[in-house]
Amino acid sequence: MSVRNYATLRDYIQANRCVTEEYTDVVLPLLEGSLPAGLVGSLYRNGNGRFEHQGVMYDHLFDGDGMIARFTFDETGVRYRNRYVRTAEFVEEEKAGRMLYRSFGTNIPGGMWKNIMNMRFKNTANTSVVWHGGNMLAMWEGGLPHHIDPDTLDTIGRYDYDGVLRNSFSWLDRQIMPELPFSAHPKIHPTTGIMHNFGTVPGTKQRLVLYEVDPAGRARITKTVEMPSVIFAHDFVLTQSGHRIFFLPPVAFDMLRAFAGITSPAASMRVDRSSQTTVLVVAPDGREYRLKTHFGFVFHYINGYQDTNGTLVVDALRLSDYPESPGMKEYLVGNIPDDTDMARFVRYRINLDSQTVAHEVLSDYQGELPEIHPNRVGQPYQYTWTIGRPATHSMPLLDHIVKLNVQTGEGCHAYETDTLPSEPIVVPRPGSTREDDAWLLYLRFHAPSQKTDLIVADAEDLKTVARLRLPHNIPLGFHGLWLGDSTTN
Ligand SMILES: [Fe+2]
Repeated sequence: MSVRNYATLRDYIQANRCVTEEYTDVVLPLLEGSLPAGLVGSLYRNGNGRFEHQGVMYDHLFDGDGMIARFTFDETGVRYRNRYVRTAEFVEEEKAGRMLYRSFGTNIPGGMWKNIMNMRFKNTANTSVVWHGGNMLAMWEGGLPHHIDPDTLDTIGRYDYDGVLRNSFSWLDRQIMPELPFSAHPKIHPTTGIMHNFGTVPGTKQRLVLYEVDPAGRARITKTVEMPSVIFAHDFVLTQSGHRIFFLPPVAFDMLRAFAGITSPAASMRVDRSSQTTVLVVAPDGREYRLKTHFGFVFHYINGYQDTNGTLVVDALRLSDYPESPGMKEYLVGNIPDDTDMARFVRYRINLDSQTVAHEVLSDYQGELPEIHPNRVGQPYQYTWTIGRPATHSMPLLDHIVKLNVQTGEGCHAYETDTLPSEPIVVPRPGSTREDDAWLLYLRFHAPSQKTDLIVADAEDLKTVARLRLPHNIPLGFHGLWLGDSTTN
């Protein structure tokens, strides 16, 4: 394996430098094109605002403190506001001026003795932002969501859905994990409006807990599935037919090592590459099916649905291997191997009658952070938009925007030299009927100038419609959300 450590990659990684300013509704200068009429509402993005604390760098890409950025579009232009999520841990560490909590991939500096039997983990609230039941929530898969004011971006507090997310399994379970995890990838059913979600809960038994939140915001636990180990699952699929589908790879936390402080949870992960991935399907009536498919690791599913033959179709971005913690730290300092494993677009066909799972690669493109038309969740669909790259691209970075027709495998891309894009959010044009009659909103970091722009592009041909300049560089973040102007009123 060759590792190139060239300056240009370090320039790209400056996209991750810490955010130290919080702006309040500054108007962004328009550098190119014009804002389209009809694009009225707000883009919210969540992600790491900083990758170090008081000079101590986090060891993992997923450990930065959550920061919400909002871009409000109206007839006069785009206004920008950003706020760190004031989690209890963030506030306490700011006051103390030092790192007090362990994170998913980072132990407190000072070795094992500083971490042994230390069960205090930071809720980073850094992964996604969700609007449902009249609430805006900043999400992190290891703990409770945080309630956010959509107008001010102020943090209202931890949100446990009237106690539903308080661990009530047993006294010992409560000591191990007092709050039930609530994943950062909930799915809202396209016709019922019910938000489905899950959490992987370590304890006296290892559990996968399924949740439903009705459109009024009332939550309940609908099912608890006992698991052989604490499996790492980041995302899942909900179909309009009501099937919930989980890919459970043989990648599991060694909770004893993690809780004992010997390693961080991320570094405790054990990967059994000789085993297959279990596909767990929970049918609408609650019945469980467990099937097997090839080894690999999926962070994100593109979409899934039941076809007219009853087959469950799942499109995913599949890595051929699990990305171990040391590689995540190296990524943060710009040491990125040329042969870095990149996720491929893969379609799975799950037949519950024959208990089989078939798979095929949809495209030569590689990608991550997939988005679809917001009205196509759980149903047959045509397009996805992702960050990505052609397989022959010379840089080991997902530095293109890729549009893929998942039915034909045909794709196209947009590429701007020396830039890195964020996840592209799809905003349907008012009155549109075609899936790609929409705008794409994403951030784009220009490595040589170290500037970040907000891009409005046409979702059909990916051409830039408008480019606006942020007042400071912000990391590109993980997941975002578009809310039309009437949504939060
Ligand atoms: Fe994610």
